[in-house]
Amino acid sequence: MSPDITLNNGVRMPALGLGVLDRPAREQTAGAVATALGLGYRLIDTAASYLNEKEVGEGLRRSGVARADVFVTTKLWLSQYGYDNALRGFDASLRRLGLQYVDLYLLHWPLPSDFEATVAAYRAAEKMLAEGRARAIGVSNFSADHLGALIERTSVVPAVNQVELHPLFNQGSLRDAHRRLGIITQAWSPLGNSVRRTIRTNDPLTNPIVIGIAKRHAKTPAQVVLRWHLQTGWAAVPKSFNSGRIAENFDIFDFALTADDVIAIDALDTGVRFGPDPEAMHAGALSISLDD
Ligand code: A2P
Repeated sequence: MSPDITLNNGVRMPALGLGVLDRPAREQTAGAVATALGLGYRLIDTAASYLNEKEVGEGLRRSGVARADVFVTTKLWLSQYGYDNALRGFDASLRRLGLQYVDLYLLHWPLPSDFEATVAAYRAAEKMLAEGRARAIGVSNFSADHLGALIERTSVVPAVNQVELHPLFNQGSLRDAHRRLGIITQAWSPLGNSVRRTIRTNDPLTNPIVIGIAKRHAKTPAQVVLRWHLQTGWAAVPKSFNSGRIAENFDIFDFALTADDVIAIDALDTGVRFGPDPEAMHAGALSISLDD
């Protein structure tokens, strides 16, 4: 079973969950969610922009696991920023999921070109929190400056900032800011898929250091990388639509990395971001029809 992390409002969140971003595989989502829940996963991470909230809800129901035992995260897309838009976006997400509440509601990206709209959307999230329709709220892809600017103008410190984080980009200074602010760091692309998508070589799963550590523990490189995330104190949502790999990614609670293993993986950091730059985000960055 995944250990829990306690958020800044006392809500407990499983440290390890299943991410389901991958729109071409959208119809496989319900199956992946049900498989994961059957294997013991208790956190599912989706977003309005993944266009699969409906299938996530279906997978939850199909699994037979009680709603109260599952932690569901979804995210508001940029085109629905602003206060009233965000309230509508949130209602639509709940409707598609077929749920009365979500456990964590995140603003998917900052919108630096219209930070007013970002702040207004977050204020709408605060209302959902007050109404009990979100048990916790937070953000994704925010820099330390974005966090500072948001916190200055709102009342609830984000519980989570979900960001690109893997051995090649371990976000040291942002994590320091999170620690100071009491924000939990949650990794997207924890296995380094953002690296595979861009340079296609030397990603964390084919890195010789990681492979060497994996051999010593009789585990796979993915299991070593996920263990590194958990042992260093942050949450992660690895994605997979393959039942074998969904199981593999959850089979990490029977071994521990040594302090030297952790230091060796920490040293792989390049300081280079592989995914999209949050500063460059704008409402039309990805035009998505969210109305299904
Ligand atoms: P698949 O769905 O075929 O398993 P990240 O979480 O870093 O974004 O990585 C997700 C990508 O890594 C997906 O392409 C997924 O493909 C693949 N993946 C997930 N788990 C593993 C694993 N244990 N070993 C190798 N590749 C994996």
